[in-house]
Amino acid sequence: MITTNGHPLYLRPNVQIEPLIDLWYAWAHLIPPHTAARNITERHLKIMESYISAPEVHATAVKNPKLLGGPFMDYGGKRVDEIKALRDRTKKDRAQLLELSSALAALNTLLLSQAKGFSLQPAYAQIPPVLKGYVELVYDLNNFPGFRIIEPLIYRSPLYDQSMQSVALSLAASDDRPFVLSTPRLPSDDTIDVPVPFAAEALDQLVALKTTAAPWTAIRDRLPISDDRMQLFRTFFQEEAPKPYEPYAGSGARWRYFGHACILIETGGLSFLFDPVLSYSYETTLPRYTYEDLPDRIDYVLITHNHQDHVLFETLLQLRARIGTIVVPRSGAGQLQDPSIKLLLEAVGFDSIVEMTELEELKTPNGSVVALPFLGEHSDLDVRSKLAYLVRAGRHRLLVAADSCNIEPALYAHVHRQIGDVDAFFVGMECDGAPMTWLYGPLLTRRIERQMDESRRLAGCNYDQAVDIVNRFHCREVYVYAMGQEPWLNHVMSLKYTETSRPITESNRLIADCRSRGICAERLFGEREILLDP
Ligand SMILES: [Fe+2]
Ligand SMILES: [Fe+2]
Repeated sequence: MITTNGHPLYLRPNVQIEPLIDLWYAWAHLIPPHTAARNITERHLKIMESYISAPEVHATAVKNPKLLGGPFMDYGGKRVDEIKALRDRTKKDRAQLLELSSALAALNTLLLSQAKGFSLQPAYAQIPPVLKGYVELVYDLNNFPGFRIIEPLIYRSPLYDQSMQSVALSLAASDDRPFVLSTPRLPSDDTIDVPVPFAAEALDQLVALKTTAAPWTAIRDRLPISDDRMQLFRTFFQEEAPKPYEPYAGSGARWRYFGHACILIETGGLSFLFDPVLSYSYETTLPRYTYEDLPDRIDYVLITHNHQDHVLFETLLQLRARIGTIVVPRSGAGQLQDPSIKLLLEAVGFDSIVEMTELEELKTPNGSVVALPFLGEHSDLDVRSKLAYLVRAGRHRLLVAADSCNIEPALYAHVHRQIGDVDAFFVGMECDGAPMTWLYGPLLTRRIERQMDESRRLAGCNYDQAVDIVNRFHCREVYVYAMGQEPWLNHVMSLKYTETSRPITESNRLIADCRSRGICAERLFGEREILLDP
C-alpha cells in the first residue's frame, strides 16, 4: 500500500529515462526500419552470440582501456541466460526485420553482379519480396548501380514496429554507465521497464512533472507501470519544487556550454539549443548545467549531424514538449547510410521540424541562423545530413561547426566570401576518430579491407585544419568543444584521452597559438558561461 498525504509531487531531477529498442539503447540508426534491421543482425545479434559463447572474453575486454567502445558486453561475464533469451526473442519477434536485413544485402549483391549499365527494369522482378515497392534502382553517371529507399513509405509499413520501443526508468546517482552500443539494458531491481512507444504523450506528461506538480492519484495511472513496480515508481517523485529557471534578460546575448556539443544561446528573447545532450542532476564534484538549467520553452533546437553523440534520443525525448522548432540538416533522401533525420524524429513524435540545407537562412528577430556546409567526419560516405550553423545575434556572429573537418580550405574561402568574419568559433577536434566500421559497419553488406577502414575515419579538425578557419574568418574567440570528455557521456562516447592523445595535443597547440596572437581560446569542459554585450 502506497501512502500519500495528497501533496502535489514533482518528478525527481535525477530520474533517468532511457529509450530502448528491444532493450538496446535507442539511437538514431535504430529508428528507421532499414538501418535498424542491419544493426539488429550485424551488431546486436553478433554481440549477443559472441557473449553467449565466450562471456569471460567480454568481461576481460571491457576492463581494457585499449578496447573501449569495442563490441564487448559489460555484464562481468554473468547473465548469459538472459542474453540467450533476448537473442531468441529478437530472432522470433523481429523475423521480418531479419528478413529485411538479408534482403538489403541480397539486393546489393544482385546489383553488383547483374547491373552492368543496361536497363535496370528486369532487376525489379528479382528484388526480395520484403523490399518490393520500397526501393528504386538507379545508376550514377558512371553506371555504378545502387538503390534508394522510399523512406516515408517504409515508416508507414509494418516494418516500423513501435512495439519494439520502451523506456527504462531509474534513479541516476553517478556518471557511471556502460557503453550502450555494446551492452543491452537488462531489467534490474531498481529499474522500471515501461512498454510505451516513444511518441506517447504520456512520456511528455511524465517529463512535465519535473516542473509542474500533480497529485499521486493523477500520476500513477498515466503510464503502464506494473503493480509490483508501483512502490518503486513512487520513490521517483518528491514534494520539493525545482529551482526556477532564470532566462537571460539582457539586450546582448548569453551562451552556456552544457557539455560535448551542447550549447544554449539566449538572445533577443529567443533560445537556441545545439545538439542537446544533458546530464541529470545528482551529487557530483564536477559542476555542470543540467535539464534544470533550460528555459521552459526552447524556441529552436538545432542538430548538426546524425551521430549518436549529437542526436541523443534520451535527451531529445525529454525536451520534446518544450521545443518550438527543431532544425535538422536535410538528408540525401533514401541512402542507407543517410536516413532522414526529419522522418525519424517525426516517427518518434516530434512536430515542427524544419529541414535546412547549405546556405539557407532562418530569420530571427535580432539576426538569423545560416546553415553552412559541413565537410568530412563521415568516412567519405555520401552523407548529406550534416550542417554547421552561423548564428547572427545583433552584432555577434557565432560559428557552431561541431565535427566539421576542414579537408578542403577552398570551401571555407568560398564560405567566407558569403558570410564574412566570425567572432566566436566552436570547433570539434576529435582528429583521430573511429574507423568507418565502428559506426557504419552494420550497414555494409560486403567486407571492407581493414586498411581501407582504418584510413576512413570519423575525424574532426586537426590543428592545421582548425587554424585555417580561425585565420580565414578572423575569429576573435575560439572554443574547442565536442571532445566527448564529459564523464556523463561515457555511455555514448567511450573516449578516454591522455595528455599525449592527438586530439589533446592538436587542440593544445591551437589554443596556445591563438593566445599568443591575442585571440581568446580555450577547450571547453564541464560548464561555461559567456555574456556578450549588446
Ligand atoms: Fe560526428
Ligand atoms: Fe561528435
